[in-house]
Amino acid sequence: MTELKNDLLLKALLREPTERTPLWIMRQAGRYLPEYREVRAQAGDFMSLCRNPELACEVTMQPLRRYKLDAAILFSDILTVPDALGLGLYFEAGEGPKFERPVQSTAQIGKLAVPDVSETLGYVFDAVRTIRRELDGQVPLIGFAGSPWTVGTYMVEGGSSREFPIIKGLAAEAPAALDSMLDIVARTTTEYLNAQVEAGAQAIMIFDTWGSALERDDYLRFSLAPMQKIVDGLTRQNEGRRIPVILFTKGAGVLLKDMVATGCDALGVDWTTSLADARQYTGDKVALQGNLDPATLRESPEVIRQGVADTLASYGKGPGHVFNLGHGVTPDIDPDHVAVLVDAVHELSPQYH
Ligand code: CP3
Repeated sequence: MTELKNDLLLKALLREPTERTPLWIMRQAGRYLPEYREVRAQAGDFMSLCRNPELACEVTMQPLRRYKLDAAILFSDILTVPDALGLGLYFEAGEGPKFERPVQSTAQIGKLAVPDVSETLGYVFDAVRTIRRELDGQVPLIGFAGSPWTVGTYMVEGGSSREFPIIKGLAAEAPAALDSMLDIVARTTTEYLNAQVEAGAQAIMIFDTWGSALERDDYLRFSLAPMQKIVDGLTRQNEGRRIPVILFTKGAGVLLKDMVATGCDALGVDWTTSLADARQYTGDKVALQGNLDPATLRESPEVIRQGVADTLASYGKGPGHVFNLGHGVTPDIDPDHVAVLVDAVHELSPQYH
C-alpha cells in the first residue's frame, strides 16, 4: 500500500497532536461545483453516477483539485443500503429520493433480509478501490453510511419527510417490529462498512441526520442503539492503522454525552451546539468535527473568515478538532467562498496547536 502523505485527519480523529487543524467539508463533491454538474449530466442521473466507479472517483477528486482539503469522502449516498434491501431507490427531479416499495407494515418488515453486500453493493467497493488508486496516498479516504434510524425514515416514509408520521406511528404501536427492521439495516450496514474498509476506506462516518427528531428515550432505543451495534461490529484496524469512527447526529446537543459511550472515536457537531459546550459534554474523550453554519458561506469573505476564527476559538487549544461545516454545503454556494473558508482554516488554526 502507498504511504499516506497527509495523515492530519486520522491523527486529529484519534486526538493526537497536529501542527494545524485538518479540514474537509460535508458534501464537498456536489452541485455547487460546475465541474460536478457537468459529470452528473454526463452520467444522466445521480444513481448512475454512484454506480459508475470511474465517474464516482472523478467527482470525489474534484474538490481536492480546487482546495487544500485533508480528506476525500467516497461519492455515494446513504440510501444505497435500502436499495440493496430491495426497496427500489429512484430520484424524482426536484423532489429528492423516493422508494418504489416502502416498508410500511409489520408484514413487510417480516419479509426483509440482510442481502449479500458484495453482490448488491459491489459498485461502491469498486469505487472505493478506484478512488484509493487515484488518491495515491495524497489524503485519507472517508467511507460512510447512514444510521439505521435515518435510513429507516426514508424506507418507511417512502422519501424525505418533515414530521415522520408513519415511522413514528410504528415506534408507538409496533416498537418490536421497528427494532427488527432497524436490526436488519444495522447488520447490513456493518457488512457494508467493513467491505468499504477492506476496499480501502481509512475512516468511517455514520450520518444520523434525523435522530434528534426523536424524544430522548426513543433516540436511545431507535437511533443510538442501532448505531452502537454497528460500532461494535466494525473493523477498527486495517493496513496497520486504526480506522477512526465518527458518529454524527445532527442537532444532538446534550445527546453528545450519550454518544460518547458507544466507543466511537469522534462526534460530528452541528452549529446549534458550540464546540466549547460539546467539549464539556464529551470531557475530551472523543474528537469533535464541525461546526460552522453552512449559511455563513453565503456571506462576504470577511464574515466567513470571522466565522472560521470563532469556530476555532470555540474549540480552543489542543488536539482533537476536525474543522467542518455543521451540515452539508448547499448547491447555491459560490465555490470561491469555499476557498476563503479553506484558506482561513490553514492560516488561523496553527496558533491552537
Ligand atoms: O459529502 C459528500 O461529498 C459525500 C457524498 C454524500 C451524498 N449524500 C451525495 C449526494 C453523502 C455523505 C450523502 C449523505 C446523505 N444522503 C444524507 C446524510 C447527510 C445529510 O446531508 O444529512 C442524506 C439524508 C441523504 C439522502 C439524500 N441523498 C437526499 C435527501 C438527497 C437529495 C438532496 C438534494 O439536495 O436534492 C440525496 C441526493 C444526493 N446525495 C446528492 C448528492 C451530491 C444530490 C444529487 C444530485 O442531484 O446531484
